[in-house]
Amino acid sequence: STPLRLGIAGLGTVGVGVVKIVRQKAALLSARAGRDVVITAVSARSRDKDRGVSLKGYAWEDDPVALAKRDDVDIFVELMGGSDGPAKAATEAALAAGKDVVTANKAMLAHHGQALAEQAEDKDRVLRFEAAVAGGIPVIKALTEGLAGNEITRVMGVMNGTCNYILTRMQATGQGYDVLFDECARLGYLEADPNLDVGGIDAGHKLALLSSIAFGTQVDFDAVELEGIQSITLEDIRQAADMGYRIKLLGVAQMTGRGLEQRMSPCLVPDASPLGQLEGGTNMVVIDGDAVGQVVLRGAGAGEGPTASAVMGDVMDIARGFRVSTFGMPATALKQARPARAVTP
Ligand code: HSE
Repeated sequence: STPLRLGIAGLGTVGVGVVKIVRQKAALLSARAGRDVVITAVSARSRDKDRGVSLKGYAWEDDPVALAKRDDVDIFVELMGGSDGPAKAATEAALAAGKDVVTANKAMLAHHGQALAEQAEDKDRVLRFEAAVAGGIPVIKALTEGLAGNEITRVMGVMNGTCNYILTRMQATGQGYDVLFDECARLGYLEADPNLDVGGIDAGHKLALLSSIAFGTQVDFDAVELEGIQSITLEDIRQAADMGYRIKLLGVAQMTGRGLEQRMSPCLVPDASPLGQLEGGTNMVVIDGDAVGQVVLRGAGAGEGPTASAVMGDVMDIARGFRVSTFGMPATALKQARPARAVTP
């Protein structure tokens, strides 16, 4: 059988993680997929940077759009980030050239997911993005595959590890928000624009994607009510603790009589609950389905291994010929679905 050939754009933390898995687990991937999974070409901002991993045998492209169009690439793996700019241009070029696309780009999908999904469908290609939501947790697969027979009544969870780290460390150490924000910067936890993390925007992107999948609506990031954690004080955290609660940046999406409500904001959760006990950079997603009841998924929401794990899950699905529609239903059907924003009475 023919090998499946990946072109990877972006060799930051996640890209390097994908290269390592493809190199180190070649036999396992081949056995599972029934065909070899190989990297043929890569692209990144700097060619010479030492990334601690060999790029030998891969063609190099300076321009991700050129990478996206290469004849020896079957799947364009977009790991550059950024909602517009090169990531979007290259993703569109890849779909136009008839490539499947796997991306971890939550911002791009939250803003352009519907248009990109339509473009993919038009070309009979798939656009997959497990890694865009909650890092290593296979929550999109859970919703689109394992829970496909359910009517979903609510999706909620902690979807930004950086905010969860800051809030849990404030409580555990008594250090203030600013000190911990600086620590996150030093540890490399923050997005290039840190306001995406602490402003709740990054988590809002993820919630918008999950809402679309869970409730069959078009991705509508502007409909997410957002509040960040910047103004949470140690005093807030102490008062919550005195009452037996913790403060978490919690996303909740649920269908109500007024339409779909999507909110990402600091919330009080009981100290003793699974969400209350969620520490550090971990993520948790809680899904309620009418047939299944409640499903709780927990795991690493960021980082090299976990995010690369999710990217490879999508790659392996495609390698095995599993071409399920990205948003849980065809993009053309979603286009007709009325936007299900909550209306203020
Ligand atoms: N900045 C994100 C987080 C990275 O802290 O969760 C993963 O999307």
